[in-house]
Amino acid sequence: MRVGVLTGGGDCPGLNAVIRAIVRKGVGVYGHEFVGFRDGWRGPLDGNTMPLTVADVRGILPRGGTILGSSRTNPFKEPDGLQRIRESLGSYAVDALIAIGGEDTLGVAKRLHDEAVPVVGVPKTIDNDLGATDFTFGFDTAVGIAMEAIDRLHTTAESHHRALVVEVMGRHAGWIALHAGLASGANVILIPERPFKIDEVVAYVERRFETKYACIVVVAEGASPAAGDTSLRTAELDAFGHVRLGGVGQRLAEEIEARTGKEARVVVLGHIQRGGTPSAFDRVLATRFGLHAIDAAHEQDWGVMVALRGTDIVRVPLAEATRELKTVPDDRLAEAEVFFG
Ligand code: F6P
Repeated sequence: MRVGVLTGGGDCPGLNAVIRAIVRKGVGVYGHEFVGFRDGWRGPLDGNTMPLTVADVRGILPRGGTILGSSRTNPFKEPDGLQRIRESLGSYAVDALIAIGGEDTLGVAKRLHDEAVPVVGVPKTIDNDLGATDFTFGFDTAVGIAMEAIDRLHTTAESHHRALVVEVMGRHAGWIALHAGLASGANVILIPERPFKIDEVVAYVERRFETKYACIVVVAEGASPAAGDTSLRTAELDAFGHVRLGGVGQRLAEEIEARTGKEARVVVLGHIQRGGTPSAFDRVLATRFGLHAIDAAHEQDWGVMVALRGTDIVRVPLAEATRELKTVPDDRLAEAEVFFG
């Protein structure tokens, strides 16, 4: 069997571990051959490929990013996208395609499966917002990076008697903010799932200043004030119709400074959260996803995505995988609220 592999959407630590596991088991156990499609769905659209042998995947386990490259290309936005993908798969004699990505990439995989393209999905995103899996790889690394940054910010915030507002990624889900904030003892955590009241945030900040302990506000990029401001810096949309988020931290810092009279600064962690080497948890999860994905392809179990349930890797239909976004439930935020202020 000849298997095509691609990585789509925002990159995240662990992608190379998946690719390595797919190729190592595919070649070593099943005797399959591989072709790498470059830059997400752009690869099969343009017929842009690279070799993917065991030699090509040696040494990539600890490397961040993806050796295949990535993009947010949506082939269904192109009039002849489906046809071009079919032609590419045909010309490279590809019998199976493994797509590694988040909700957008897997949404395309699902539509291709509906069109009888033999495809298997692997979930990835630092946002941890895919409903069908307990965790996605990349999330643990992103949380670790944010936690380490916040730990460092504690000491400088304390020295200067400042409030530091730390803006983290996560798009429409507050998982990174919640976990990083909990792990690092944030003063308050603001997430998209619960629009915040600025008066409450200011009260938490003032209370923290009274204790003389560092005041750190962790805010998810998609969080917004209860009044309904959308926190958008730009109305630019990507090929999947997502707006680019960000800017809420800056506005929050200005508001805190104006209302408390204390200096407030913002730190936007941004793509640092997606860069560099994956954590041990993410390396193991990504490796297991890769091993199970090539099993599914070998068995010609098309239209499934591998998922973590408890400690087991299971297969779920791609349709289920992309059905709903996993957001932070109220009771999880309530656990963190005990430590606010
Ligand atoms: O989905 C992963 C993610 O990092 C989000 O947390 C963030 O909103 C988005 O991607 C940023 O996308 P880009 O790298 O295209 O700016």
